[in-house]
Amino acid sequence: MPSWNADQYLKFAHERTQPARDLAARIAVDGPRKVIDLGCGPGNSTALLAERWPVAAITGLDSSSAMIRAAEREYPQFHWMAGDISGWAAEPDTLPDNLFDVVFSNAALQWVTDHPTLYPALFRHVAPGGALAIQVPMNMNAPAHVAMRELASTPAWACMLPSEGVREWHVHDARFYYDLLSSLAARLELWETEYLHVMEDARAIVEWYKGTGLRPFLDALPSEADRENFLADYADRLDDAYPAQADGRVLFPFRRFFLIAYR
Ligand SMILES: C[S@@+](CC[C@H](N)C(=O)[O-])C[C@H]1O[C@@H](n2cnc3c(N)ncnc32)[C@H](O)[C@@H]1O
Repeated sequence: MPSWNADQYLKFAHERTQPARDLAARIAVDGPRKVIDLGCGPGNSTALLAERWPVAAITGLDSSSAMIRAAEREYPQFHWMAGDISGWAAEPDTLPDNLFDVVFSNAALQWVTDHPTLYPALFRHVAPGGALAIQVPMNMNAPAHVAMRELASTPAWACMLPSEGVREWHVHDARFYYDLLSSLAARLELWETEYLHVMEDARAIVEWYKGTGLRPFLDALPSEADRENFLADYADRLDDAYPAQADGRVLFPFRRFFLIAYR
């Protein structure tokens, strides 16, 4: 599990929250009473669920104590739980406390293993008439990710990183998720969106991934100096991969996958 830093993550709060906003806007569940945000982070996605359904009881769950503390500070009015998503999914769904009208997760399940077990288990926590709504990044082949993996495999860095490689995201394609949930759900909606984030420069993409995708690589390096050097080498690669526009800014394409399974 990578270390999480709420301030670093929220440097791009607007861009990171937009997919959660887009997902929440498409959930067609009337007046949900209970909503849970799995992998809620610092509460940015949870807060917009409360905007969408002001009278619902809102719970946020996250395994990072730093994230849960940040969420509690910013939004004391919601219910926060420190815990693991897989552990929560495996809890008995027969208890009324464990059924929710909306089970929501934005940009978190890519960090969780064993989706063939996880997704159906999450769906079982959806109350009748409710929905499981998920967004995960699907840009493992984007230049910024390829650059991370290529850099980590160069002799200079491979010798400092675990020989089995660092943990990468767990994401399958749309066909996989369809087959997993189609026999359980009354209706499934699936779509992909490629956001084109406008970044100040390619270095801003380094800052973006310092809050997420680079964490497993940085956590595995032995010292702060190594982390700084790794980031510098990574930044050089991004300069080539993301050329500047006429005004100096760069476009950062980011593909994301969305799924809503209705019960
Ligand atoms: C990229 S942040 C997403 C935050 C927020 N949902 C958003 O939309 O911006 C991913 C969050 O998932 C949490 N997370 C990752 N694996 C988890 C797990 N197995 N159980 C609970 N939370 C997890 C991390 O601690 C982190 O706060």
